[in-house]
Formats: sequence, structure tokens, C-alpha cells
Amino acid sequence: MIQALEPTPLDYWLDPCIGPGAFVARLREKGVSGDRIVGVDIDPTTGDEDPICDTIRGVDFFQWCRETKQRFTKIVATLHM
Ligand SMILES: C[S@@+](CC[C@H](N)C(=O)[O-])C[C@H]1O[C@@H](n2cnc3c(N)ncnc32)[C@H](O)[C@@H]1O
Repeated sequence: MIQALEPTPLDYWLDPCIGPGAFVARLREKGVSGDRIVGVDIDPTTGDEDPICDTIRGVDFFQWCRETKQRFTKIVATLHM
């Protein structure tokens, strides 16, 4: 999924449901710097990748996205249906 989004060094990434951070780990493997990744999760439980990127936990993404001034060039997320 990450490869399909064709990461570039200037992208600014968002994972709106970072969870344990599997997508962040793949981004890091692709050479994306942690300071270009923001992760949000409603679950306050710390994940392994939290120290690597800008992680915001205990927050509902749908509320946060109405308030944040941050903007992103790539968004990667898991959709549950
Ligand atoms: C399957 S996990 C995500 C996996 C993650 N993308 C990864 O790379 O490891 C789903 C996550 O969505 C989070 N979540 C569910 N509803 C949410 C919401 N409204 N705002 C933010 N996070 C939410 C859950 O807490 C859970 O950690």
C-alpha cells in the first residue's frame, strides 16, 4: 500500500488511525523521516512507533481533523467495513 502511494522525500504523511504503527514502520523502511509523519489514534495505548513520529493519542480523528491546521500530501489508513 505504501509503495502504491509512491513516497517522495517531500511528502508529509498522515495515518489517522495509527494503532501499533505498522504503516509508520513501513514508511520508515522506505526512508521517510519520522518528522514528516503524523499519527492520530483514539486509543491512548502507546505504540512502538510513537517516539519516531508526531503521535497524537486519545483523540478522535474526526474531531481532530476539523480543528487542525496541518495539511498532508499522503494519507494512509485501514478501512474497517
Ligand atoms: C487496524 S488499527 C490501525 C492500524 C494502523 N494503521 C497500523 O499501521 O498499524 C485501527 C485503529 O483505529 C483506531 N481508531 C478507531 N476509530 C478511531 C477514531 N475515530 N479516531 C482515531 N483512531 C481511531 C483504533 O483505536 C485502532 O488503533
